[in-house]
Amino acid sequence: MAKKKKIAAEVIAQDVIAEGIMDLRLKTDLAEDANPGQFIGIYPKNKSTLLPRPISICGYDKNEGTLRIVYRIAGSGTAEFALYRPGNHVDILGILGNGFPTDKAQGKRVLIIGGGIGVPPLLGLAKELKEGLGENFAEDITMVMGYRNSETFLADEFRNYGNLFIATEDGSVGTKGNVIDACRENKIEADVIFSCGPMPMLRGVAAYAKEISAKAYISLEERMACGVGACLGCICKTKNVDEHSHVNNARICTDGPVFDADDLEL
Ligand SMILES: Cc1cc2nc3c(=O)[nH]c(=O)nc-3n(C[C@H](O)[C@H](O)[C@H](O)COP(=O)(O)OP(=O)(O)OC[C@H]3O[C@@H](n4cnc5c(N)ncnc54)[C@H](O)[C@@H]3O)c2cc1C
Ligand code: FES
Repeated sequence: MAKKKKIAAEVIAQDVIAEGIMDLRLKTDLAEDANPGQFIGIYPKNKSTLLPRPISICGYDKNEGTLRIVYRIAGSGTAEFALYRPGNHVDILGILGNGFPTDKAQGKRVLIIGGGIGVPPLLGLAKELKEGLGENFAEDITMVMGYRNSETFLADEFRNYGNLFIATEDGSVGTKGNVIDACRENKIEADVIFSCGPMPMLRGVAAYAKEISAKAYISLEERMACGVGACLGCICKTKNVDEHSHVNNARICTDGPVFDADDLEL
Protein backbone atom coordinates (compact mmCIF):
# COMPACT_ATOMS: atom_id res chain seq x y z
CA MET A 1 0.00 0.00 0.00
CA ALA A 2 1.32 3.50 -0.86
CA LYS A 3 2.49 5.63 2.06
CA LYS A 4 0.10 8.37 3.20
CA LYS A 5 1.38 11.88 2.56
CA LYS A 6 0.34 15.38 3.56
CA ILE A 7 0.98 17.48 0.51
CA ALA A 8 -0.04 20.82 -1.03
CA ALA A 9 -2.32 20.41 -4.05
CA GLU A 10 -3.15 23.10 -6.60
CA VAL A 11 -6.77 23.91 -7.41
CA ILE A 12 -7.20 23.74 -11.18
CA ALA A 13 -10.98 24.14 -11.43
CA GLN A 14 -14.05 24.42 -9.26
CA ASP A 15 -17.67 24.52 -10.41
CA VAL A 16 -21.12 24.44 -8.84
CA ILE A 17 -22.95 21.39 -10.30
CA ALA A 18 -26.15 21.53 -8.20
CA GLU A 19 -27.42 23.65 -5.34
CA GLY A 20 -24.72 23.44 -2.65
CA ILE A 21 -22.76 20.75 -4.56
CA MET A 22 -19.22 21.57 -5.74
CA ASP A 23 -16.99 19.84 -8.29
CA LEU A 24 -13.32 20.44 -7.46
CA ARG A 25 -10.25 19.39 -9.49
CA LEU A 26 -6.84 19.27 -7.88
CA LYS A 27 -3.38 18.81 -9.36
CA THR A 28 -1.41 16.46 -7.12
CA ASP A 29 1.09 13.61 -7.26
CA LEU A 30 -1.27 11.66 -4.99
CA ALA A 31 -3.44 10.93 -8.07
CA GLU A 32 -1.10 8.15 -9.09
CA ASP A 33 -2.08 6.11 -5.98
CA ALA A 34 -5.85 6.70 -6.22
CA ASN A 35 -8.41 3.91 -6.55
CA PRO A 36 -12.22 3.99 -6.57
CA GLY A 37 -13.72 4.22 -3.07
CA GLN A 38 -10.64 5.72 -1.45
CA PHE A 39 -10.66 9.24 -0.02
CA ILE A 40 -8.47 12.19 0.89
CA GLY A 41 -8.43 14.46 3.94
CA ILE A 42 -8.62 18.16 3.09
CA TYR A 43 -7.30 20.63 5.68
CA PRO A 44 -9.29 23.83 6.12
CA LYS A 45 -6.98 26.85 6.33
CA ASN A 46 -9.01 28.18 9.26
CA LYS A 47 -6.98 26.83 12.19
CA SER A 48 -10.04 26.67 14.48
CA THR A 49 -11.10 23.68 12.38
CA LEU A 50 -8.02 21.52 12.87
CA LEU A 51 -9.01 18.16 11.46
CA PRO A 52 -8.88 17.26 7.78
CA ARG A 53 -12.30 16.77 6.21
CA PRO A 54 -12.67 13.34 4.59
CA ILE A 55 -13.91 13.55 0.98
CA SER A 56 -14.13 10.64 -1.45
CA ILE A 57 -12.28 10.51 -4.71
CA CYS A 58 -14.84 10.93 -7.50
CA GLY A 59 -12.33 10.62 -10.32
CA TYR A 60 -8.65 10.67 -11.15
CA ASP A 61 -6.34 11.00 -14.11
CA LYS A 62 -3.04 9.32 -13.31
CA ASN A 63 -1.34 10.63 -16.46
CA GLU A 64 -2.27 14.26 -15.81
CA GLY A 65 -1.87 13.91 -12.03
CA THR A 66 -5.34 15.18 -11.16
CA LEU A 67 -7.97 14.25 -8.59
CA ARG A 68 -11.63 15.15 -8.80
CA ILE A 69 -13.84 15.45 -5.74
CA VAL A 70 -17.53 16.34 -5.55
CA TYR A 71 -18.83 17.54 -2.21
CA ARG A 72 -21.81 19.12 -0.47
CA ILE A 73 -21.33 22.33 1.49
CA ALA A 74 -22.20 20.98 4.96
CA GLY A 75 -20.46 23.27 7.45
CA SER A 76 -17.50 25.56 7.99
CA GLY A 77 -14.81 23.36 6.37
CA THR A 78 -16.63 22.63 3.15
CA ALA A 79 -17.90 26.25 2.99
CA GLU A 80 -14.24 27.33 2.99
CA PHE A 81 -13.32 24.81 0.26
CA ALA A 82 -16.10 26.22 -1.93
CA LEU A 83 -14.28 29.57 -2.03
CA TYR A 84 -11.12 28.12 -3.60
CA ARG A 85 -10.29 29.28 -7.11
CA PRO A 86 -7.82 28.02 -9.74
CA GLY A 87 -4.26 28.73 -8.62
CA ASN A 88 -5.06 28.41 -4.89
CA HIS A 89 -3.27 25.71 -2.91
CA VAL A 90 -4.73 23.41 -0.29
CA ASP A 91 -3.14 20.82 2.00
CA ILE A 92 -4.45 17.32 1.50
CA LEU A 93 -3.71 13.98 3.16
CA GLY A 94 -3.88 10.77 1.22
CA ILE A 95 -4.51 8.47 -0.25
CA LEU A 96 -6.76 7.12 2.54
CA GLY A 97 -8.89 4.00 2.99
CA ASN A 98 -9.11 0.66 1.22
CA GLY A 99 -11.39 1.36 -1.77
CA PHE A 100 -13.83 -0.96 -3.53
CA PRO A 101 -12.66 -4.52 -4.26
CA THR A 102 -12.96 -4.13 -8.02
CA ASP A 103 -11.57 -7.65 -8.58
CA LYS A 104 -14.90 -9.03 -7.29
CA ALA A 105 -16.63 -7.54 -10.34
CA GLN A 106 -14.75 -9.49 -12.97
CA GLY A 107 -17.21 -11.10 -15.35
CA LYS A 108 -20.13 -10.37 -12.98
CA ARG A 109 -23.44 -8.54 -13.27
CA VAL A 110 -22.68 -5.48 -11.17
CA LEU A 111 -25.21 -3.19 -9.51
CA ILE A 112 -23.90 0.16 -8.22
CA ILE A 113 -26.20 1.94 -5.74
CA GLY A 114 -25.58 5.47 -4.46
CA GLY A 115 -27.52 7.94 -2.38
CA GLY A 116 -27.05 11.67 -1.82
CA ILE A 117 -23.45 12.58 -1.24
CA GLY A 118 -22.57 8.87 -1.49
CA VAL A 119 -23.03 9.22 -5.26
CA PRO A 120 -19.64 10.80 -6.24
CA PRO A 121 -17.21 7.95 -5.38
CA LEU A 122 -19.34 5.58 -7.44
CA LEU A 123 -18.62 7.51 -10.65
CA GLY A 124 -14.92 6.63 -10.43
CA LEU A 125 -15.89 3.05 -9.67
CA ALA A 126 -18.23 2.78 -12.69
CA LYS A 127 -15.55 4.22 -14.97
CA GLU A 128 -12.94 1.79 -13.65
CA LEU A 129 -15.25 -1.22 -14.07
CA LYS A 130 -16.10 -0.20 -17.63
CA GLU A 131 -12.76 1.14 -18.88
CA GLY A 132 -10.18 0.09 -16.29
CA LEU A 133 -7.10 -1.96 -16.63
CA GLY A 134 -8.77 -4.98 -18.19
CA GLU A 135 -8.81 -7.53 -15.43
CA ASN A 136 -11.65 -5.86 -13.52
CA PHE A 137 -14.20 -5.53 -16.32
CA ALA A 138 -17.74 -6.25 -15.20
CA GLU A 139 -20.02 -8.28 -17.49
CA ASP A 140 -22.60 -5.53 -17.29
CA ILE A 141 -23.22 -2.53 -15.07
CA THR A 142 -26.56 -1.31 -13.76
CA MET A 143 -26.64 1.79 -11.59
CA VAL A 144 -29.29 3.19 -9.28
CA MET A 145 -28.73 6.68 -7.87
CA GLY A 146 -30.95 8.38 -5.31
CA TYR A 147 -31.40 12.14 -5.01
CA ARG A 148 -33.65 14.55 -3.12
CA ASN A 149 -35.05 16.21 -6.25
CA SER A 150 -34.44 16.93 -9.93
CA GLU A 151 -30.87 18.10 -9.24
CA THR A 152 -29.46 14.74 -10.32
CA PHE A 153 -25.79 15.69 -10.30
CA LEU A 154 -23.37 13.42 -12.21
CA ALA A 155 -26.26 11.40 -13.73
CA ASP A 156 -25.26 12.17 -17.33
CA GLU A 157 -21.74 10.95 -16.65
CA PHE A 158 -22.96 7.69 -15.08
CA ARG A 159 -24.86 6.94 -18.31
CA ASN A 160 -21.50 6.52 -20.10
CA TYR A 161 -20.86 3.35 -18.12
CA GLY A 162 -24.12 1.40 -18.11
CA ASN A 163 -27.86 1.47 -17.52
CA LEU A 164 -28.87 4.15 -15.01
CA PHE A 165 -32.07 4.24 -12.92
CA ILE A 166 -32.85 7.25 -10.75
CA ALA A 167 -34.92 7.56 -7.58
CA THR A 168 -35.94 10.95 -6.18
CA GLU A 169 -37.59 11.71 -2.86
CA ASP A 170 -40.00 14.16 -4.51
CA GLY A 171 -40.71 11.95 -7.55
CA SER A 172 -39.52 14.63 -10.00
CA VAL A 173 -37.22 12.17 -11.84
CA GLY A 174 -37.42 8.39 -12.06
CA THR A 175 -38.96 6.35 -9.25
CA LYS A 176 -40.60 8.32 -6.44
CA GLY A 177 -38.98 6.98 -3.30
CA ASN A 178 -35.61 5.57 -2.43
CA VAL A 179 -33.02 3.52 -4.30
CA ILE A 180 -34.44 0.21 -3.07
CA ASP A 181 -37.91 1.21 -4.37
CA ALA A 182 -36.21 1.79 -7.77
CA CYS A 183 -34.45 -1.61 -7.61
CA ARG A 184 -37.77 -3.35 -6.87
CA GLU A 185 -39.75 -1.37 -9.46
CA ASN A 186 -37.24 -2.32 -12.15
CA LYS A 187 -36.70 -5.89 -10.86
CA ILE A 188 -32.93 -5.40 -10.88
CA GLU A 189 -30.86 -8.56 -10.46
CA ALA A 190 -27.10 -8.72 -9.90
CA ASP A 191 -24.24 -10.88 -8.66
CA VAL A 192 -22.32 -8.12 -6.90
CA ILE A 193 -23.48 -4.80 -5.43
CA PHE A 194 -21.22 -1.84 -4.64
CA SER A 195 -22.82 0.95 -2.65
CA CYS A 196 -22.21 4.22 -0.83
CA GLY A 197 -24.70 6.43 0.97
CA PRO A 198 -26.34 7.10 4.32
CA MET A 199 -26.52 4.23 6.83
CA PRO A 200 -30.31 3.57 6.54
CA MET A 201 -29.84 3.22 2.79
CA LEU A 202 -26.89 0.85 3.25
CA ARG A 203 -29.00 -1.34 5.56
CA GLY A 204 -31.61 -1.49 2.79
CA VAL A 205 -28.91 -2.35 0.26
CA ALA A 206 -27.60 -5.20 2.45
CA ALA A 207 -31.15 -6.59 2.81
CA TYR A 208 -31.81 -6.28 -0.94
CA ALA A 209 -28.52 -8.10 -1.67
CA LYS A 210 -29.77 -11.02 0.45
CA GLU A 211 -33.12 -11.03 -1.38
CA ILE A 212 -31.43 -11.35 -4.79
CA SER A 213 -28.54 -13.56 -3.53
CA ALA A 214 -25.86 -10.99 -4.37
CA LYS A 215 -22.68 -10.06 -2.51
CA ALA A 216 -22.66 -6.46 -1.26
CA TYR A 217 -19.67 -4.21 -0.59
CA ILE A 218 -20.67 -0.98 1.11
CA SER A 219 -18.79 2.22 1.83
CA LEU A 220 -19.50 3.82 5.22
CA GLU A 221 -19.09 7.59 5.11
CA GLU A 222 -19.46 8.06 8.84
CA ARG A 223 -17.94 10.83 10.89
CA MET A 224 -14.18 10.77 11.20
CA ALA A 225 -11.52 12.65 13.10
CA CYS A 226 -7.85 11.78 12.44
CA GLY A 227 -8.53 9.70 9.31
CA VAL A 228 -5.41 7.58 9.84
CA GLY A 229 -6.38 5.00 12.47
CA ALA A 230 -5.06 6.79 15.55
CA CYS A 231 -8.07 8.16 17.44
CA LEU A 232 -10.70 5.37 17.24
CA GLY A 233 -13.25 8.07 16.39
CA CYS A 234 -14.74 6.08 13.53
CA ILE A 235 -15.42 2.62 14.92
CA CYS A 236 -18.04 0.30 13.42
CA LYS A 237 -19.12 -3.12 14.70
CA THR A 238 -18.10 -6.21 12.78
CA LYS A 239 -19.23 -9.82 13.17
CA ASN A 240 -15.66 -11.12 13.44
CA VAL A 241 -14.23 -10.88 16.95
CA ASP A 242 -10.48 -10.20 16.85
CA GLU A 243 -8.78 -13.20 18.46
CA HIS A 244 -6.18 -11.05 20.22
CA SER A 245 -8.17 -8.03 21.39
CA HIS A 246 -11.50 -9.94 21.72
CA VAL A 247 -13.38 -6.94 20.36
CA ASN A 248 -15.45 -6.78 17.22
CA ASN A 249 -14.61 -3.24 16.20
CA ALA A 250 -13.17 -1.98 12.92
CA ARG A 251 -11.84 1.48 12.10
CA ILE A 252 -13.72 2.87 9.12
CA CYS A 253 -10.82 5.13 8.13
CA THR A 254 -8.18 2.39 7.82
CA ASP A 255 -10.05 -0.96 7.70
CA GLY A 256 -12.67 0.66 5.42
CA PRO A 257 -14.49 2.72 4.36
CA VAL A 258 -15.55 -0.23 2.16
CA PHE A 259 -16.67 -3.43 3.91
CA ASP A 260 -18.24 -6.72 2.91
CA ALA A 261 -21.79 -6.17 4.19
CA ASP A 262 -21.81 -9.76 5.55
CA ASP A 263 -18.98 -8.82 7.94
CA LEU A 264 -20.79 -5.88 9.56
CA GLU A 265 -23.34 -5.51 12.37
CA LEU A 266 -25.47 -2.97 10.54
C1 LIG B 1 -14.83 8.41 4.09
C2 LIG B 1 -15.71 9.62 3.88
C3 LIG B 1 -15.92 10.10 2.61
C4 LIG B 1 -16.71 11.22 2.41
N1 LIG B 1 -16.90 11.65 1.13
C5 LIG B 1 -17.65 12.74 0.91
C6 LIG B 1 -17.84 13.21 -0.42
O1 LIG B 1 -17.31 12.63 -1.41
N2 LIG B 1 -18.59 14.32 -0.60
C7 LIG B 1 -19.17 14.98 0.48
O2 LIG B 1 -19.86 15.98 0.28
N3 LIG B 1 -19.01 14.55 1.74
C8 LIG B 1 -18.27 13.46 1.99
N4 LIG B 1 -18.08 13.03 3.28
C9 LIG B 1 -18.69 13.82 4.36
C10 LIG B 1 -17.79 15.03 4.68
O3 LIG B 1 -16.59 14.55 5.24
C11 LIG B 1 -18.47 16.00 5.65
O4 LIG B 1 -19.60 16.54 5.05
C12 LIG B 1 -17.49 17.11 6.01
O5 LIG B 1 -16.44 16.59 6.81
C13 LIG B 1 -18.19 18.21 6.76
O6 LIG B 1 -17.20 19.16 7.14
P1 LIG B 1 -17.60 20.67 7.44
O7 LIG B 1 -16.48 21.30 8.19
O8 LIG B 1 -18.08 21.35 6.22
O9 LIG B 1 -18.86 20.50 8.36
P2 LIG B 1 -18.92 20.38 9.93
O10 LIG B 1 -19.05 21.75 10.47
O11 LIG B 1 -17.88 19.48 10.46
O12 LIG B 1 -20.33 19.65 10.00
C14 LIG B 1 -21.49 20.24 9.38
C15 LIG B 1 -22.63 19.25 9.33
O13 LIG B 1 -22.26 18.12 8.56
C16 LIG B 1 -22.45 16.94 9.32
N5 LIG B 1 -21.37 15.99 9.02
C17 LIG B 1 -20.06 16.13 9.32
N6 LIG B 1 -19.37 15.03 8.91
C18 LIG B 1 -20.28 14.21 8.34
C19 LIG B 1 -20.20 12.92 7.73
N7 LIG B 1 -19.08 12.24 7.65
N8 LIG B 1 -21.35 12.39 7.23
C20 LIG B 1 -22.50 13.06 7.33
N9 LIG B 1 -22.64 14.26 7.89
C21 LIG B 1 -21.55 14.83 8.39
C22 LIG B 1 -22.40 17.39 10.76
O14 LIG B 1 -23.15 16.52 11.59
C23 LIG B 1 -23.03 18.76 10.70
O15 LIG B 1 -24.43 18.67 10.74
C24 LIG B 1 -17.32 11.90 3.51
C25 LIG B 1 -17.09 11.43 4.80
C26 LIG B 1 -16.30 10.30 4.99
C27 LIG B 1 -16.06 9.81 6.39
S1 FES C 1 -10.81 8.65 12.29
FE1 FES C 1 -9.28 8.35 13.81
S2 FES C 1 -9.20 6.17 13.93
FE2 FES C 1 -10.53 6.54 12.27
